[in-house]
Amino acid sequence: MLFLFNRNNIINKLFALFMFTYIIGYMKITVYNMKGSAGKTPIATNIALDREYALATNEPYNLLDTILPEERLFSLQPDEEFPDFPEGIDVVFDLAGLMSRDARPSIVSAVSQSDVVLVPIYNELKCIHAGIHTIRELLPYNKNIIVVATKLVKRKGETFKDWADSEDAKNIKAVVDHAIGQGTPVLPLKFSKVFDTIFEQERSIRQMMEEDALARYTYRDVAAQFDTLLSYLEKHYA
Ligand SMILES: Nc1ncnc2c1ncn2[C@@H]1O[C@H](COP(=O)(O)OP(=O)(O)O)[C@@H](O)[C@H]1O
Ligand SMILES: [Mg+2]
Repeated sequence: MLFLFNRNNIINKLFALFMFTYIIGYMKITVYNMKGSAGKTPIATNIALDREYALATNEPYNLLDTILPEERLFSLQPDEEFPDFPEGIDVVFDLAGLMSRDARPSIVSAVSQSDVVLVPIYNELKCIHAGIHTIRELLPYNKNIIVVATKLVKRKGETFKDWADSEDAKNIKAVVDHAIGQGTPVLPLKFSKVFDTIFEQERSIRQMMEEDALARYTYRDVAAQFDTLLSYLEKHYA
């Protein structure tokens, strides 16, 4: 009897541990910047396709239903609230609209339940302004903000090994450090046409590379950067 009791105890503990690791392995990620064309939808879609996340969006007229299976796509109006998604499913929220206007309910409900918020910012005055403003609006609802310094290009005469050392990335980081604080991670993502191709091919960057040697070569840098970004999220927020 004692033996049985002990054994059950161990089984219970193992079960609890299993459930714990099972649940903490999952993530809810928001991708948001109030600025359109920042790259939210391509980033969110690549995550959803590559890692089999559900995609939740407050843009009712999107073309995502051709790309993702119906059961993995949640779409609602900007002035509606997202339901609390249960623990144990991976969700990426692709948000548009303004938190100070009609899109407040959808944005606040998504951001509040997310483990982490990605704010894509490219090196252009309007986008940087909008990005900083966005981060300030988000912080009361979620402290886990990561800036994706995106659409990075190599300017004339520039040489660097790491895209984090590009003028584009350094400028974005300098503004974020100054306006928000040095603790905000800024991760680089170069400009690439592949972010249009994922919608044409309806496959993630990695999935395109698996079947095509030329794609494997062409997309190696951007794919590596995207992997680094996702590993960072998994390490810190899953
Ligand atoms: N590194 C990148 N990250 C995100 N988008 C990129 C990147 N490089 C190029 N793009 C392009 O920038 C555009 C931004 O996408 P868009 O849907 O307009 O963004 P949003 O959803 O923020 O409005 C797309 O055409 C995409 O292909
Ligand atoms: Mg979009």
